[in-house]
Amino acid sequence: MNSLIKIENMEKYYKIGKDRLHVLKSINLDIKKGEFIMIMGKSGSGKTTLLNILGFLDRFEEGKYIFNDEDVTNLNENQRSEFRNRNIGFVFQQFNLVESLNIYQNVELPLVYDGKLNKKERDAIIKEKLELVDLLDKQNSKPLHLSGGQQQRIAIARALVNNPELIFADEPTGALDSETAEVVMEILKLLNEQGKTIIMVTHDSDLVKYATRVVRLKDGVFNNEKSLEVTSND
Ligand SMILES: Nc1ncnc2c1ncn2[C@@H]1O[C@H](COP(=O)(O)OP(=O)(O)OP(=O)(O)O)[C@@H](O)[C@H]1O
Ligand SMILES: [Mg+2]
Repeated sequence: MNSLIKIENMEKYYKIGKDRLHVLKSINLDIKKGEFIMIMGKSGSGKTTLLNILGFLDRFEEGKYIFNDEDVTNLNENQRSEFRNRNIGFVFQQFNLVESLNIYQNVELPLVYDGKLNKKERDAIIKEKLELVDLLDKQNSKPLHLSGGQQQRIAIARALVNNPELIFADEPTGALDSETAEVVMEILKLLNEQGKTIIMVTHDSDLVKYATRVVRLKDGVFNNEKSLEVTSND
């Protein structure tokens, strides 16, 4: 099967004053359509950095990035944001909803930025996604009037409105109790069963049961030969 994401010999450094921090070392990763990948590892091991690079939110110094058979290593900023908007929905630990907007408007936001659909077309998609996360009745509420789990379900609805092939989730259950986390994970599982490819960062080893594959970062670096363990979960 074709790769959806392929990373070859990727190196990532952060500049800190005169020093360089080598965060990701010689990363090789091959993600197929339909996988549910979990990236695990200690705090500071580079998980968010890796996810941000895969999601065109951050850059890397060396190596190659192939997305859907297209070499995207050297895209310019415009091309990167277009790729991001078209292909990837993001879910974050702290939900990142806009507090001044109501739930409906929050979910509408990516469609407004995209600018391709009219109000009526947008409305149908927003309601469909709110129904999927079972929160259509909250459409007029403000985010802070919702529980954490509800806010995260709204964030998932928002991540879905542009119909991305990929969902990237960075500790999506990190701010939730374990029961609420399961509700959010069940939604991600359903999306995966419907064909979405999911890449998720987590500390929580209880959640690996949802993954089709677990990738581990160790010792503050990501090293394919020495410290990357790839375990198949099926
Ligand atoms: N913008 C930045 N500038 C400099 N150093 C950074 C920057 N972002 C992250 N780092 C450093 O890079 C390393 C990896 O950070 P990253 O956020 O990717 O870790 P993480 O695995 O996501 O950790 P956590 O589990 O705590 O979220 C850390 O040592 C961090 O301090
Ligand atoms: Mg992180």
